Amino acid sequence: MQNLPDHVAIIMDGNGRWAKKQNMPRTYGHKKGVEVLKDTVKSLIKYEITSLTVYAFSTENWKRPPKEVKYLMGLFSQTIEREAAELDEQDIKINIIGRRAELDQKILKKIEKIEKLTEDNDKLILNIAFNYGGRAEIIDVIKKLKADKNLKPEEITQKLVSKYLYNPTISDVEFIIRTGGDKRISNFLLWESAYAELYFTDKYWPEFDEKELNKALKSFAIRQRKFGALTGEADQ
Ligand code: IPE
Ligand code: IPE
Ligand code: MG
Repeated sequence: MQNLPDHVAIIMDGNGRWAKKQNMPRTYGHKKGVEVLKDTVKSLIKYEITSLTVYAFSTENWKRPPKEVKYLMGLFSQTIEREAAELDEQDIKINIIGRRAELDQKILKKIEKIEKLTEDNDKLILNIAFNYGGRAEIIDVIKKLKADKNLKPEEITQKLVSKYLYNPTISDVEFIIRTGGDKRISNFLLWESAYAELYFTDKYWPEFDEKELNKALKSFAIRQRKFGALTGEADQ
């Protein structure tokens, strides 16, 4: 397919509703969600897409019942440990973005371990947004800028702000897919998505398969991106 994005981001929503539909606990949906993510990663590699950012846990998700929060923490922790070797073999580089200070020591150790293990890989960059919030990220940037006493106001540019994000090496996102039927951003990548194309599907995340991914990418491929300028035949 021509005109594919380099950087895709996914709001993997609808796990709980998918599980409920089949009379299963919400946790069953989250577990299935991990399997779907693994398949999606493989499909993106086939399309030669180079970056994927996924929303796994938001700064607002702490408002859920403690049991569900605990399950999600455990699932993330187990998954990054269990999948580390295979991800490395597939030449995938893992970055975890989000507020680390609020995470448990055991999880932090596993995050550091998987990032270190996969740091030289370059087939696909997989950014996992965990305890991530777009506003929290911007506030954390402002705090870092304020802490630099030598910085003059005129030196604060878009380029500089980008350097202070959780991971400055991550490129701007070009295409955001949200599953689960809701048409909102829910505090995902507020700075990085300034000119992203958006795609919403009613499919729940656990039922998002290669066919659905293909549909989404086809929709991106025919869009005309203008970035505020005048382009296209009519403008010439
Ligand atoms: C997305 O699925 C996963 C996380 C937010 C961790 P949900 O858990 O939000 O599932 P729904 O939206 O309630 O169905
Ligand atoms: C967004 O889904 C966060 C993740 C997918 C991790 P939510 O289910 O938390 O979003 P809202 O509450 O519907 O906005
Ligand atoms: Mg949801």
